[in-house]
Amino acid sequence: MIEAILVTGADGYVGWPVLLRLAETFYDERVVGVDNFARRKWVEEIGSVSANPILSPGERKKRVEELGRVSFVEGDLTSREFVNMLIRVYKPDTILHLAAQPSARILR
Ligand SMILES: NC(=O)c1ccc[n+]([C@@H]2O[C@H](COP(=O)([O-])OP(=O)(O)OC[C@H]3O[C@@H](n4cnc5c(N)ncnc54)[C@H](O)[C@@H]3O)[C@@H](O)[C@H]2O)c1
Repeated sequence: MIEAILVTGADGYVGWPVLLRLAETFYDERVVGVDNFARRKWVEEIGSVSANPILSPGERKKRVEELGRVSFVEGDLTSREFVNMLIRVYKPDTILHLAAQPSARILR
């Protein structure tokens, strides 16, 4: 049976490079990235942009498809149903939980 590593926050500053490194390092495991792209929405909401140039969600999904064995699943981890589905479908042996709202949102 294929073992799986789940990376939450896989579109994030930490999560994206971790996802790529795991995919390059663990050839026998399936690597699954999860994100709801909330960070991008929050940045856009305040009229800001990423300080580092980053690929669009579509370009990142294409990149992981090219790697094979890597899946990118869009969804909200605050949904119990979504999390249960991830565990049921991908049966991860390891979960790297990097999804977060790492700083307070700016409320105007
Ligand atoms: N960046 C750093 O230098 C650094 C240093 C030490 C620790 N950390 C910790 O690492 C973790 C990740 O930090 P980061 O800098 O990568 O943050 P980030 O905002 O770049 O990434 C977090 C990701 O989580 C996603 N996310 C948020 N809520 C979600 C939800 N409900 N469902 C699905 N996805 C969701 C966001 O869309 C985002 O892509 C945080 O816990 C942070 O405190 C970061």
